[in-house]
Amino acid sequence: MNKTLASSTQAPIALWSPGAPAPAGGLARWTPNVFRDASDARRTFHRSLPGYAVTPLIDLPDLAADLGLTRLVVKDESSRLGLPAFKMLGASWAVYRSLAALCEETPEPTLEALREKVVELGPMTLVTATDGNHGRAVARMATYLGLSSLVLIPSAVSNEAIDLVRSEGADVEVLDLSYDETVAEAARRSEARSDGVRLLVQDTSWPGYETVPTWIVDGYGTLFDEATAQLNGDPALVVVPAGVGSLAHAAVLHCRSHPGWRAVTVEPEVAPCIAASLAAGAAVSTGTGETSMAGLNCGTPSSLAFPDLLSTLDGALWVTDGEAEEASASLAGHGIDAGACGAASLAALRQLCASEGGDRLLSDLTVLLLNTEASR
Ligand SMILES: Cc1ncc(COP(=O)(O)O)c(C=O)c1O
Repeated sequence: MNKTLASSTQAPIALWSPGAPAPAGGLARWTPNVFRDASDARRTFHRSLPGYAVTPLIDLPDLAADLGLTRLVVKDESSRLGLPAFKMLGASWAVYRSLAALCEETPEPTLEALREKVVELGPMTLVTATDGNHGRAVARMATYLGLSSLVLIPSAVSNEAIDLVRSEGADVEVLDLSYDETVAEAARRSEARSDGVRLLVQDTSWPGYETVPTWIVDGYGTLFDEATAQLNGDPALVVVPAGVGSLAHAAVLHCRSHPGWRAVTVEPEVAPCIAASLAAGAAVSTGTGETSMAGLNCGTPSSLAFPDLLSTLDGALWVTDGEAEEASASLAGHGIDAGACGAASLAALRQLCASEGGDRLLSDLTVLLLNTEASR
């Protein structure tokens, strides 16, 4: 019960960060590598979750012809592991890895075995901040494991999205703060230990908080693994809706290990922190604003993601709410249920086709749009 998360999930960051000071107690003889490539274990884990199915890859030949593309496909995440967005892939894997580390369980236990083991740690609460989808996924994972969840939500998020998080059994607090401030508040709240162990499960990172976000990004990898198999190994230019850039991080890591793959991001006009950071050559905050693309309404890139985004992305775009709505209607006409965030990928593709240099990027490559959520 007195076991702290710092001893098994956060302290290793100090040991392994380049340039970090040597640990006070010296380096242990045996250092398990919690960051090793666990893609097989990850895929096995995702397959074991209730409702797992490979999400559809949908060909849009008419739209491809209109846009002058060789091939256009949409990876449809509007229904993933029983939720209407891709986020459960990251949240589930990060919670699982964190708890397995806390319980010192190796090799990877089943979800049921972990649920039984985690009882020994005493009362535990998963804590997070969210624009909606991630918090819902964390709350769902807490339920699977018999844990509590505390989800902080900025007041700009719609009541409907807030109610959906509550419907997962989470203790929800709506705060009159921006997304970035809400994340900082969640980090503060996770320090409280009065009601047992609190585990911060945040889908963005900052110096000193990188282990859980690393696993979240790794969890998103399943989406790209599936798409690669569905494309029979053909490379693609992937258009990634981006908030803090963790999903885009998974995309660029995939690009690095899969020759020919390329990636661009799309953000709302009011919160283009990735595009502004690419333009500056360094991570900058842009603030946020009012947008129907709630999941992308983030003001600061994840610190872990940004160096890889800077070295690997081909570029970044922003779109207006009107453009995302138009794209959503267009996808609906093709039988695809896309919310504003997911449809932003098509809106961005239209911008890319019309922009100078964009056509060169598109050339003969298949374009892969990520429909990251269903309409609300
Ligand atoms: C529907 C949807 N699409 C895309 C994203 C962007 O993900 P990231 O914040 O990792 O860039 C989010 C984030 O919450 C989201 O909810």
